[in-house]
Amino acid sequence: MCGIIAGISGEEIAPMLIEGLRRVEYRGYDSAGIATIHDGELEVRKEVGRIKDLERRYSASEMKGHTGMGHTRWATHGGVTQANAHPHMSCGDLVAVIHNGIIENYLDLRESLQKEGHTFRSETDTEVIPHLIEVEYLKSKDPLQATLSAVKKLKGQYAIVVMFRDHPEIITGARNDAPLVIGVGEKEMFLASDVLAFISRTDRAVFLDNMEVVAITVRGYKVYTMSGIEVEKKPTQLAWELSDLSKLDYAHYTLKEIHEQPETIQRAMHQDPNRLEPFIRALKGAKSVLLTASGSSYHAAVLLRDRLNREAKIRCDARLAGEFEDQAHFVEKGTVVIAFSQSGETADLLHAIKVARARGGTVISVVNAAGSSVARESDEVLLLNCGPEVGVAATKSFTAQVMVGNVIADAMIGKDTIGEPEMIGRLVEETLKSEDTVREIAKAFSDRPDFYFIARGHHYPIALEGALKLKELSYVHAEGMPASELKHGTLALIEKGTPVVVIAPSGEGFTSTISNALELQARGAEIIGISDNEHPVFRYRVAIPSSNESVAPILEAIPLQLLAYFMATERKNDPDYPRNLAKSVTVK
Ligand code: F6R
Repeated sequence: MCGIIAGISGEEIAPMLIEGLRRVEYRGYDSAGIATIHDGELEVRKEVGRIKDLERRYSASEMKGHTGMGHTRWATHGGVTQANAHPHMSCGDLVAVIHNGIIENYLDLRESLQKEGHTFRSETDTEVIPHLIEVEYLKSKDPLQATLSAVKKLKGQYAIVVMFRDHPEIITGARNDAPLVIGVGEKEMFLASDVLAFISRTDRAVFLDNMEVVAITVRGYKVYTMSGIEVEKKPTQLAWELSDLSKLDYAHYTLKEIHEQPETIQRAMHQDPNRLEPFIRALKGAKSVLLTASGSSYHAAVLLRDRLNREAKIRCDARLAGEFEDQAHFVEKGTVVIAFSQSGETADLLHAIKVARARGGTVISVVNAAGSSVARESDEVLLLNCGPEVGVAATKSFTAQVMVGNVIADAMIGKDTIGEPEMIGRLVEETLKSEDTVREIAKAFSDRPDFYFIARGHHYPIALEGALKLKELSYVHAEGMPASELKHGTLALIEKGTPVVVIAPSGEGFTSTISNALELQARGAEIIGISDNEHPVFRYRVAIPSSNESVAPILEAIPLQLLAYFMATERKNDPDYPRNLAKSVTVK
């Protein structure tokens, strides 16, 4: 969940590190730090808070050196303090390390290192790594050898990057179950947790696999297995446009990404037939099907499950990735597991994939990040093609997932989705016109402590998604539930002034959902309708255009994203960087 960037260049490295850190700040923003090698010294600067706090304290121009590393932290072991921020140093200040992941055996390693006389300056699991590497380095005086020997002692998940005070010409790294990518530039090389960190310098990347060790110099890179055998790896050309990474005139990335949806949804619809055909073939050949994902991606998976059940008549279920292992007993040879993920690096999902594979299952996935671990661990992959999503809350990636789900479901029943992209783009644009109404609703309800979201049938995952988005961005308690469930308990919580968002598209379930809204209103609730249909029960109505069953959930999700966004801004929260969260949840 932490962001990593390191590099060796002919130019000053600190400005590149700061820029790279800003681009991966969504991965964690508790604290940040930078180390460079200058005049034979490892110079380390760290600060609690955001990258801007680090910059405020130390200007990039005073950090000299052509070799350096930077880290933005999402705390796991040890509180959010300057001492716990990365980089961490060895006792003799010979080695500096940044790390993303969790070292499971750190207590044992720390105890034995302390017995050998090492002193520790932080509470982190990471700090054992520079000490271990220094011990090995003092034996061999070889940075690569020292890294190879030390990582063999680590248990857990990690992406690490290592600098050696006396070797500014080399940076080493290693990965196991946490992402690490090489950026291959013109006379400069980078190591990062995410291609976004170096994309302004180079669009050529080499994705490391688990249990690989890397060494970069200004001229090139070498990748090794953990036993030191060299592995040949060629760079991939990255497709993402740099312009995707600016906020343009929007106040926040989240708002910009919400407004990108008329285009991103159409892009998601245009699936490459070379990917789609084998994906559908695998699904059609499945003995049984299971879908898995976390958070918003799970809600998109549930929508696809319902369409596969209802329309393609495939009996299948969806499981939260973090719960997958306990419920995976019926995965066997012939089971196809469909994994959904924006980042493609979610640790719970990667574990679910491992479990599915160990039981003989086939894994096909829907991801945004083409070179990600989930994509590389899957037999077939469909891409969301919605560009980098910087805001921590899933917005455009969620609607792209729902759209790719529609493409899959349509292909399974022999329906052509591609006939309608412009029409969908127009419907999404029309829906975005609700922005002023939603802003007014957020103003009116921003002081309420609880929100409820209700819907029926295949609109229910949107109630879950609306509640998740609101919790995440506004820090207001919210619950999403099937409209029919209210009377079985939750109605007791409704009092005068409780806002309830009622997703009530016209059609089959409209009358029953409105009956539930009337029951709520009778108990004092204030009803916010998301509907293409007017009804007197709505105190406010967010008008969405009429559409069909597969497009409606996409249109319903958009005002709920806007509601969460405006509730956050009304409550003076930063919607791009909600507290305690990180975009890519790379720890279990
Ligand atoms: C919510 C959100 C998270 C992610 C979840 C899975 O707005 O962003 O709930 O959906 O952490 O992440 P991915 O899709 O990257 O696997």
